[in-house]
Amino acid sequence: MIVKPLSHFTGIDILTSEQFWGLLKLARQLKDEWTQCGGNRPVLAGKSLAMLFEKPSLRTRVSFEMGMRHLGGYAFYLSPAEIGLGTRESPADVIRVLSGYVDGVMARVFDHRSIEEMVEWGSVPVINGLSDFSHPCQALTDVFTIWEQLGTLEDRTLVYVGDGANNVATSLLMAAGKVGLNVRIVAPRGYIPSAEVLTAAEVEVEITDDLNGVRGADVLYTDVWVSMGDEDEREERMEDLPPYQVNTELVQRSENEEVLVMHCLPAHRGEEITDAVADGSSSRLFPQAHNRLHAQKAVLAHLLGGVELPS
Ligand code: CP
Ligand code: NVA
Repeated sequence: MIVKPLSHFTGIDILTSEQFWGLLKLARQLKDEWTQCGGNRPVLAGKSLAMLFEKPSLRTRVSFEMGMRHLGGYAFYLSPAEIGLGTRESPADVIRVLSGYVDGVMARVFDHRSIEEMVEWGSVPVINGLSDFSHPCQALTDVFTIWEQLGTLEDRTLVYVGDGANNVATSLLMAAGKVGLNVRIVAPRGYIPSAEVLTAAEVEVEITDDLNGVRGADVLYTDVWVSMGDEDEREERMEDLPPYQVNTELVQRSENEEVLVMHCLPAHRGEEITDAVADGSSSRLFPQAHNRLHAQKAVLAHLLGGVELPS
């Protein structure tokens, strides 16, 4: 069976379950090729990627740049000051210009509508490298990491603790729906996914503000309490979210000695996660971060190199 090719990677919700699994399997193949066969085949020889950032980044920027390089292609960084997306030039004009120079664009933006506008006006694949609404590259990596760590996604439960309404939580819910991962949100009122996100996620999501909701978790996941762009809400968030810190006591409440702790990073240690947990035996924070490279390669090899998604 041929898996229908993707034109863009702007959100998990636009993928079928087969396409999502195809990206996971391609990431697996590319990781094996990289780690066991002495390197990747140059499936992106002669291809180029513009990486456009409105916000800071370590993992996204470096994993995409190195991913392109490992696959034989070329990537370059465009800083917020250089582009002035929406101020110096509209996303529609930026993408129409870039479409004549490069084979793909990865963008990290404040407003998700900028991503949608680029899809509408461009003629090259657009990759969402994080917006205020979603972070699909992260969610692909996270499910890949859980699959790798646990060996299966069947009958496994991910519990997301903290700001359950942010971009990372949104994409994780949608990704869980594609692979049948059980998912629970443990968050205070006002920090839960919107009805629109819950519908798009196509998965039964348990939501509770009770910390005992972590019981039975296979994966405990958290992210910062104040996302980039939400800084003006910092004071309120720092009042509402501290009970939801992932600390040793909360990990023990899972009643699973083998529970995995994940975080997309960067972490605000001492806020949403303690040092003891981030550096403890349950932590998978760094294998997770390293897997960004392999997941991003899958997206690039498929969208820019035409590598088919495995069925
Ligand atoms: N997790 C993540 O996207 O990290 P960066 O913000 O460093 O890219
Ligand atoms: N929710 C965080 C994720 C950072 C990778 C943010 O948007 O700042």
